[in-house]
Amino acid sequence: MIRLDKVSKTYQVGDETVHALSTIDLAVAKGEFVVVVGPSGSGKSTMLHIIGGLDSPTSGRVIIDGRDLSQASDRELSRYRNGSVGFVFQTFNLHPTYNALENVALPLIFSRVSPKRRLDLARQALETVGLAQRAGHRPNQLSGGERQRVGIARALVAQPKIILADEPTGNLDSKTGGRIIELLLRLNREKGITLFLVTHDLDIAAHAPRALFMRDGVIVEERRG
Ligand SMILES: Nc1ncnc2c1ncn2[C@@H]1O[C@H](COP(=O)(O)OP(=O)(O)OP(=O)(O)O)[C@@H](O)[C@H]1O
Ligand SMILES: [Mg+2]
Repeated sequence: MIRLDKVSKTYQVGDETVHALSTIDLAVAKGEFVVVVGPSGSGKSTMLHIIGGLDSPTSGRVIIDGRDLSQASDRELSRYRNGSVGFVFQTFNLHPTYNALENVALPLIFSRVSPKRRLDLARQALETVGLAQRAGHRPNQLSGGERQRVGIARALVAQPKIILADEPTGNLDSKTGGRIIELLLRLNREKGITLFLVTHDLDIAAHAPRALFMRDGVIVEERRG
């Protein structure tokens, strides 16, 4: 499903070269749940962005469903970003003046789906995360956990095969965060969505079927449970 083939990413900042990722090799099967842990600056977000087509590697290949992202046209790449992957962010990234339903429908604006169908799909996604009754609330009228559930519904609305969640519980208390993780795990199990979860929570890593430990742009350890 996902293959990284000697993927490196370097940034040039003035005279300094930052090796954010160094020759990463990784293969992830459909429906896997992979936890990524590592200190700040170890390359976790960079790896997620590259898998999600938000960023491109300096060298190496990213192969999704047998197709090389670096060979994809701009149109194929944006279709991949908008349709095949869903992103969940630590800071939710919701549009403050839109209500929950409109936020969830937003990614479909660039698709060919009719406006009515967009709202239907958004309503379904809100139902999946248990928030149908908050459809008309704006982000500032929702709790942190509810905001993140809206964020997850937005990631789900285009029915992606992959969800990339970058510290989705980083701004939540541990109990609320635990519920968000459970929700993501349920989506992984029930819908077979391949799930990448970046977290600082070593307890989650300890219980995950597969955990990658990153340091200085390298996967230094991998554990399967
Ligand atoms: N646009 C950029 N320009 C220059 N350097 C960058 C850029 N983005 C990331 N980096 C550097 O690349 C390295 C990896 O960054 P990355 O954001 O992937 O880390 P991370 O593991 O997600 O950290 P955190 O846990 O703090 O989110 C860091 O050293 C960072 O400073
Ligand atoms: Mg990060």
